Amino acid sequence: MTAPAPWPGRLSLGLHWGVGAGVLGLLAFGFWLRTVPGGPDKTALVQIHKSVGVIVFAAALARVAWRMREGFPVPAGPHAPWERRGAILLHVFLIAATLLMPLSGILRSLAYARPVSVFGLPLIPKLFEAKHETLYAVASNLHDGLALLLSAALALHVAAALKHHWIDRDATLTRILGLTRRSGR
Ligand code: HEM
Ligand code: HEM
Repeated sequence: MTAPAPWPGRLSLGLHWGVGAGVLGLLAFGFWLRTVPGGPDKTALVQIHKSVGVIVFAAALARVAWRMREGFPVPAGPHAPWERRGAILLHVFLIAATLLMPLSGILRSLAYARPVSVFGLPLIPKLFEAKHETLYAVASNLHDGLALLLSAALALHVAAALKHHWIDRDATLTRILGLTRRSGR
């Protein structure tokens, strides 16, 4: 990893909001899917969830590559050491979860003896002839459990962003919104 980026650039902002919107949408859609009764309509909805999830996975991979090249942006204000460490831990968890969510989803589908395709475009063929019970239990528990953890982490993430804006009054939130370019608030 190179030295940290001084300030998040356009690509960092695009990846943050692109992956972010995808993840928030998939979380909401996924939790709502729970309430839909089984049948052909649900199968079609799950297929949309899976296709969008694979696309978000590709964007999340690009983001990880970009983070490894750029490092995390330097803090926008004089943050306390515990705050800096906490932010890095939370960001690393968020990034790991954006990879583990789609990976566990893909594994869950394969264990259910289904292929994985993106809006009709075949990606991974069916691997099992029948549902693989153990793999399905592991993958679906991981997918559902991580979805809850990720939702809690995101609530903390947004609360921290608002704290920086309203209490610390620094440029942390405005710069990720693309409203502040380099020179403070
Ligand atoms: C309303 C939604 C969101 C708000 C207000 C928000 C706010 C912010 C802010 C202010 C930062 C800058 C931190 C800094 O400068 O050090 C940041 C960075 C970050 N956010 Fe968010 N965020 C949101 C949604 C998300 C989502 C959904 C994800 C991922 C699932 C996410 C993942 C990250 C990560 C990994 C970083 C570290 C820097 C980077 O990799 O771009 N955020 N966010
Ligand atoms: C960032 C990416 C993803 C997020 C945030 C996400 C989120 C969710 C959530 C919140 C649920 C409902 C969990 C519950 O019932 O407690 C869910 C269910 C599910 N997800 Fe994902 N998912 C993602 C990617 C994927 C991918 C890539 C696949 C497969 C290729 C997938 C396959 C599934 C399946 C099969 C279900 C069960 C649907 C049902 O039968 O109710 N997910 N997902």
